[in-house]
Amino acid sequence: MEYIVINGEKSLKGSVHIGGAKNAAVAIVPAAVASGGVCVIDNLPDIRDVRNLAVAIEKLGAKCQFLDGNTLEIDASCINTHVADYETAINMRASYYLLGALLGRFGKAEVPMPGGCDFGYRPIDYHLKGFEALGATCVTEHGWVKVYAEKLTGANIYLDCPSVGATINIMLAAVFAEGTTQIENSAREPHVVDTANFLNMMGAKISGAGTDIIRISGVKELGCGRYTIIPDPIETGTYMIAAAITGGDITVTNIIPKHMDPLTAKLRDMDCQVEEGEDYLRVYRTGELKACDVRTSYYPGFPTDLQPQMATLLCTASGTSVVTETVFNNRFQYINELKRLGANLKVDGRTAVTRGHCAFTGAQVGATDLRSGAALILAGLAAKGETTIGNVYHLDRGYECFEEKFRSLGADIKRIEKDE
Ligand code: EPZ
Repeated sequence: MEYIVINGEKSLKGSVHIGGAKNAAVAIVPAAVASGGVCVIDNLPDIRDVRNLAVAIEKLGAKCQFLDGNTLEIDASCINTHVADYETAINMRASYYLLGALLGRFGKAEVPMPGGCDFGYRPIDYHLKGFEALGATCVTEHGWVKVYAEKLTGANIYLDCPSVGATINIMLAAVFAEGTTQIENSAREPHVVDTANFLNMMGAKISGAGTDIIRISGVKELGCGRYTIIPDPIETGTYMIAAAITGGDITVTNIIPKHMDPLTAKLRDMDCQVEEGEDYLRVYRTGELKACDVRTSYYPGFPTDLQPQMATLLCTASGTSVVTETVFNNRFQYINELKRLGANLKVDGRTAVTRGHCAFTGAQVGATDLRSGAALILAGLAAKGETTIGNVYHLDRGYECFEEKFRSLGADIKRIEKDE
């Protein structure tokens, strides 16, 4: 078993290069399946979910080759099945994008019901409703999702909530639908825009990505090309919060500052200094952290994927803060583990309250999902003494070389092998 061991109380200083966006990568790699040719994707994060998706696509018959750790060449011309490999697809949520890509290109797809981070009920009913609106038949049985369509025809689709997954999946299927598809109340996240840009680079006709109405005019086929994905806003935010919680001074480079606006605003509310450049942000603080309230929402609101990390930071602020999670119905499970480190967070439904002034102390803890793992690392970096974090595989799904990056900033952090 692997563990991360941290000796805390070090102020992290220096600069860290941010990698490609995980949630853009896990949409764009499956999207390449919709192409009939060869695509090369640059700036991919070297993380488990990306490597897993490459395996899943190879098992469909495609040829995948990592030209280096962050560049993947996919030849989707030789895909010979519409049925995803169970073992590969089951352990991550993004495998559901294979539904839209395969349905669009081949008129059929069979993918296991998605896995991924467990924080409450995470249905895909909006995805299936969108596919049905385009003319598909959707069947969920024996743990599989099966979608078929004789023909896909453009439709007007209204999403009950701006679901990232549903927006991208319907877009993937609609690329080849005859006529025009309109997705209303669509998600506006940067990785939705990135996926639309990738598809347009290959010959799709998508407009409005980044707004709440996306229009797709059907095309006959997609070509190929080379595309560089955007930097990861959640990795960026995690290192920005690391600067604040350790009283350090960190510059995050190779980023899009605009994507960080909700967090930048909150850190400034907490009396952190955030200096903005064209492709970097510098975060440091000169005094105590002020308490503030945070309410997650869909982009451009405060991202739910930074909620655990932000709640951890707010525990150390000087006063009471209220964290409200509006996107998922049970995304506070990590708090039980955080309490082992001394967190004073009290949960009531979708709200967590901290009185602040928390001085974390080292303990043995276990990550319960990707972003809760990041929160435990941040608490361990601030904690007095040694913290050991188990279930490291959660972190490896979404943070490339995180221990090396934190070590380069002065953290005393290492990965060890230990018998169970
Ligand atoms: C994506 O999940 C991300 N995952 C999540 O990131 C992120 O937290 C989430 O978007 C919100 O930004 C990937 O991109 C692989 P949603 P997704 O559909 O698509 C409900 C991380 O840590 N809903 O936007 O599953 C849903 O239950 C991960 O990187 C339905 O009810 O999120 C949730 O309450 C964690 N029916 C809300 O909508 C549906 O058919 C938003 O979910 C779809 C969603």
